[in-house]
Parts: sequence; C-alpha cells; structure tokens
Amino acid sequence: METPLKHVALILDGNGRWAKQRHLPRSDGHKEGAKRAFEIAQHAFQHWHIPFLTFYAFSTENWQRPKLEVSTIFRLLSMHLKKQRENFVKEKIRLHTLGDIAQLSSNLYATLMDIKQTTSQFTKYNLVLALNYGAREEVLRAIKLCTQVPSIIPSLDWNTFSRYLYTADIPDPDLVIRTSGEIRLSNYLCLQSAYSELYFTPTYWPDFNKEAFDLAIENYKKRERRFGNAE
Ligand code: FPP
Repeated sequence: METPLKHVALILDGNGRWAKQRHLPRSDGHKEGAKRAFEIAQHAFQHWHIPFLTFYAFSTENWQRPKLEVSTIFRLLSMHLKKQRENFVKEKIRLHTLGDIAQLSSNLYATLMDIKQTTSQFTKYNLVLALNYGAREEVLRAIKLCTQVPSIIPSLDWNTFSRYLYTADIPDPDLVIRTSGEIRLSNYLCLQSAYSELYFTPTYWPDFNKEAFDLAIENYKKRERRFGNAE
C-alpha cells in the first residue's frame, strides 16, 4: 500500500557544475538554483499537496567555501525570501529552519525570523530551510540539551530524543532527492532519513524542473515501504 507523501527533502547539488558547463561564474549557478528552489516549492505544494518540503540550502561544511561564494548564497537567499514574503502569507506557507541560524548574517537572520514568526500559525504547507545545518552537529546539540534534563536519561527512547532535534515538529522525510549524480547524504538528516526512500538523479540542480520533480514522485510511488516489517 502506498504511504502518503508528507515530506520531501532535497539536496540541491550541481549549481557549480551547471555554471562551469556554460562557462559562467559559479554565482550564476547559485542564482539559477535559488530561482529553481522556489519554483519547485510552489509546484510541490500546489500540484502535489505535499505538506513539508525541505531544502539543504547551506551545510555546516559549506563555510569552507570562498567568502565571496558564501556571501553570494546568503545574498540570494535573503533577496528571494524578501520577495517571497507576501507569497508565504497569501499561500499560507509556514517557514521553518533547521540549523544554527544565529550564526548567519544579521540581515538574513532578521528576515528569517520575521517570516518564521509571521507564518507560525499556518499548518497546511511548510517550507523548511536547512541552513548552517549538519546532522552531526544536530545530534551533539540534542545530546547536550537532553543531558540538561537528567531525569529523562534512564528511560530515554527515540520519541523523547527526537524532540531535541531541529526537526522536533517535522515528520521524517518519506523521500530524499539528491541532484547532480552524487550518491551520498552529506550529513543531511541522517537520523530522520533512516527509513526514507532515496532518489538520485544526474540532473544538475538548476536543470531540475517540475517534470524532473514529477518523475521523482512517480518513482517514489512505485516503491514498497516496509519500515523493517515483513511483507
Ligand atoms: C550545491 O551546488 C549548492 C549549494 C551548496 C548552495 C545552494 C543554495 C542556494 C541555491 C541558495 C538558495 C537556496 C534556496 C533553498 C532558495 P554546488 O555549489 O555544490 O555545486 P557543485 O557541486 O557542482 O560545485
């Protein structure tokens, strides 16, 4: 029986290679990639009615990139979020973030907090941005938070522990999509994706259009999910 699709998580990879292929600067790849992210979000909500969509927009490891590239990614995000603010409200889309966003620029942080607060009452559609996110950091943070409440430790189970992850209010992804031909999770939602279906496509992120998203969903629908049960 088909499991309802509640959450699709995406790794947007291949912006740099997309630009290189066209003899363009890497920033053009990110520019096109950011546009594509909002188009895919709109499509996932309006066409497929998927309640949660998560984008891996910036990892804890991405700080190692040249300063100019990091600031370009943040500038693009800031610009798109400001442009989309009205749309979040109109379409009743709630914005969430995963990761330590306080370390981002004060401008981007303020924009994120503003939209998160403004949309916090919405429930139907949820856009989740993993920003300065890494699964290993998330686990260590959760352990530190748990140990501040010693009474819960002896009978600690997954249900309780998962309340301390960034994803406390977000269902586990049913499907994780990674573009650009790389076949790995790269520190993305490692615990939450324990039972996720994985989909890898060679398409670079800026070329990942609605039709490519539809193909991934159709492929997911054919999968048989057993969650460790027998047939
Ligand atoms: C991966 O491509 C992409 C990133 C690390 C950044 C993605 C972020 C954006 C496009 C900014 C906006 C995001 C959203 C969700 C609106 P890469 O640079 O690793 O590509 P490469 O592996 O080909 O070099």
